[in-house]
Amino acid sequence: MRVRPLITSAACAAAIASLAACGTSAAPAIGGEAPVILRLALNQTEKHPSYVALTGFGIRLQQATGGRYRLDVFPNEVLGAQQEVLGLTSDGIIDLAVISGTQLENINPDFRVFNLPRVFDSVEHQMKVINDPAVVGDLYRSLEGDQHLTVLGGFTQGERNLYTKKPINTPADLAGQKIRVQESPVMLRMITTMGGSPTPMSYGEVYTAMQSGVLDGAENNEVSYFTQKHYEVAPHYTYTKHLVGLDYLVANSETLQKMSPEDRATFDREWTKTYEEFVTLWDKATKDAIEGATAEGAQFHQIDTAPFDERLEPLARSFLANPTQQQLYDRTRQAATR
Ligand code: GCU
Repeated sequence: MRVRPLITSAACAAAIASLAACGTSAAPAIGGEAPVILRLALNQTEKHPSYVALTGFGIRLQQATGGRYRLDVFPNEVLGAQQEVLGLTSDGIIDLAVISGTQLENINPDFRVFNLPRVFDSVEHQMKVINDPAVVGDLYRSLEGDQHLTVLGGFTQGERNLYTKKPINTPADLAGQKIRVQESPVMLRMITTMGGSPTPMSYGEVYTAMQSGVLDGAENNEVSYFTQKHYEVAPHYTYTKHLVGLDYLVANSETLQKMSPEDRATFDREWTKTYEEFVTLWDKATKDAIEGATAEGAQFHQIDTAPFDERLEPLARSFLANPTQQQLYDRTRQAATR
């Protein structure tokens, strides 16, 4: 299935129309030629560590290529929600995007293995697996043919937990609670299994939906909870620890093919530094988020996760639908015990 861009908002259409104009103001590179501008779509705010890491990547890329490349990062979903920008990247309208694994699951179900509850024990375990080409090489190249998308690697989303308007202790407390999920079959089944009623929705719509009562809660890491100000409308954050999430940096394959071998090597080297640095930024951002949200009145609850664990563990295995997925799952679990 080929992903199609769906331009749904006027603001987003206007931002895309202005992309051509963005390019004309670029300073010339050494040697006088206009730089190649890479446009990157992000759904996070400027305070999120992915924005910080990617703007640093852009500065280093520009310096290391003598100004031949410039990276423009568009935060806050201005180019569209992730489903839309995935289509735009596939079509080469934009060059790069940060996309949650749950969206890639919809175009190649093998990606779902890394979206499953309990597949990763920790961020450290996740990083070991997703940076091992022997495990992920074929998966990352699997979208290059039909989709024109190359997966370059990932940023952790850390541990995802539930947050709601009232405290949650057990699956029974989730009965009838409408919980926002990312748009993926795994996420829908996960919340049902945990005892709630899942509602798929894009990230940028969650605050208003919780505020108006369309939703009773959502699930995410502390950094998103804080930077999206979700604590204002769902003040109880409960450590259900249901999964360690993953974002991917996805590029239009032709954009990468057009680079000279030298520039591609520079790009890859600077990107590697970026995702390595991200883990440190992430740890600090998580601590700051807990502190910041607490100061604004949010309450963080540790609970006995066993009643959720018992439900979630069989769920992961039930999703493994072919030998490739089984092998990815087995290799990931083996890496946990090494
Ligand atoms: C995290 C993740 C995003 C994702 C979001 C969501 O913030 O980093 O890529 O879109 O969760 O729940 O939609």
